[in-house]
Amino acid sequence: MRPGRGIRKSTTSATLAVGILAGLFAAVTVEAAEIDAKPIVVAANKAQAKSEAMKVPKPAPTDPAVAALEEATTRAKAGDYDAARWHPIHFKPAIDKAKDGDCLTCHAEILKAKPRQASEVGVPADKVLAWYQTLDTYVGGQEDFHIRHMATPYAGKVMNLSCTTCHQGNDPREESPHAELAALEKAGSKTPLSSTLRKMVNPSETCLKCHGQFPAQNMELPGPWHEIRADMEPEGTANGCLTCHETIRTSRHQVDYLKAAGIEEAAKESSDVCYGCHGGRSWYRISYPYPRTPWPDMPADTPEWAKGRPTEPEARFRLQAK
Ligand code: HEC
Ligand code: HEC
Ligand code: HEC
Ligand code: HEC
Ligand code: HEC
Repeated sequence: MRPGRGIRKSTTSATLAVGILAGLFAAVTVEAAEIDAKPIVVAANKAQAKSEAMKVPKPAPTDPAVAALEEATTRAKAGDYDAARWHPIHFKPAIDKAKDGDCLTCHAEILKAKPRQASEVGVPADKVLAWYQTLDTYVGGQEDFHIRHMATPYAGKVMNLSCTTCHQGNDPREESPHAELAALEKAGSKTPLSSTLRKMVNPSETCLKCHGQFPAQNMELPGPWHEIRADMEPEGTANGCLTCHETIRTSRHQVDYLKAAGIEEAAKESSDVCYGCHGGRSWYRISYPYPRTPWPDMPADTPEWAKGRPTEPEARFRLQAK
């Protein structure tokens, strides 16, 4: 997940430096449809964004933890690069309260970055087709990772990701969200320490949820979706998943980073919507062990594979908890 990282890194610095010099801090606008842009501190008292661009409304009254960040912000604005780089909003506990607008004040480039037009050996990007691009839901050319997840029209229909859905704070040197065993235990993470080192976000708690394998065996289906799809979708059936999932595991997607209603709406047109997050873009050889939320007429006996599964979404994302 690091293509172009070095390049963008310097863009971050450049954006910030230019921002300070030109007073750009006062007017950051980012074109993105539905991003939670209400800043808590950094973008305080900033000019209103233009229409179409992200709204940057007046901040709510600050709580003490937030007020403590303001000193660092003042120094960052005055041109102290280290104060920006080590801004406490990058770390716990402050990051848990951060809004996208806070991050984008300094990292506006995140929603502007463009992938290469051609690979480094010269293959033009529009001459190759990744298989996930063959899904019916895929629109347009390659986009930068952050844009595909936060700012494309399709992302806006089915997802509602925030910076902090994935970024949980990490030591910039360690680049690990769980650098020490103690921190790992405290966070209650079930992920083994070794596999999450040297990554700024924990893939098992983020990417895997939408990019795992199609869990055919748990559904007692005879094979992978691409083999059985034709049988499951006779003429006139747009979405063969719903043949079963109209009544099975119907309590789904009740998390703040998804748009549950938008997903069901889009899914009427094609099973590629469902499959897209449950096997169609599987970067991993395993599936995510989803919570098994009780549904009406759920069978009383729990299948072997589902024993020990949580029965509700992770607290951090659960809708009812908000
Ligand atoms: C006051 C400005 C400022 C704010 C606000 C800010 N950052 Fe940063 N951030 C920086 C700077 C400066 C760096 C260092 C970049 C470098 O040296 O490559 C950095 C580094 C990072 C990095 C590591 C980049 C790398 O390539 O190693 C990540 C990830 C990051 N910030 C995410 C966030 C998130 C998420 C938020 C909101 C919770 C946020 N930042 C808020 C200024 C800011
Ligand atoms: C779907 C998960 C996800 C979301 C949502 C997300 N990021 Fe990232 N971000 C990543 C990953 C993965 C990387 C690369 C991490 C690595 O190299 O270890 C990254 C890298 C970065 C970097 C380093 C520079 C770069 O491009 O590599 C910055 C800065 C950053 N993100 C800021 C943000 C901001 C600001 C937001 C909200 C507008 C955001 N991210 C939303 C997953 C996410
Ligand atoms: C909430 C679900 C969700 C999460 C979490 C998620 N993705 Fe995605 N991802 C998607 C969807 C949906 C698309 C397709 C977007 C489209 O077609 O416009 C996608 C597309 C992609 C693409 C294709 C990009 C392109 O240019 O076409 C890559 C690569 C990717 N994701 C990697 C990741 C990584 C790495 C993470 C973890 C840091 C991650 N995703 C987390 C849902 C998710
Ligand atoms: C023939 C019926 C049937 C079809 C078709 C079907 N499923 Fe399922 N699915 C099930 C059953 C049964 C379960 C397990 C129910 C339980 O928890 O006991 C399940 C479970 C799941 C789970 C949760 C797996 C886990 O490990 O918790 C996901 C995700 C899922 N299905 C997605 C899909 C998607 C996406 C499609 C279409 C591409 C699809 N299903 C098609 C019957 C079906
Ligand atoms: C944008 C990505 C995305 C799309 C599109 C999507 N899902 Fe999901 N699905 C997820 C994620 C992420 C979870 C885990 C949510 C959680 O932790 O509660 C999930 C959970 C589930 C579960 C387990 C629910 C539970 O709590 O028992 C089932 C079943 C499921 N999805 C089926 C479907 C079906 C059927 C469709 C199409 C109508 C679909 N998904 C479309 C991302 C997606």
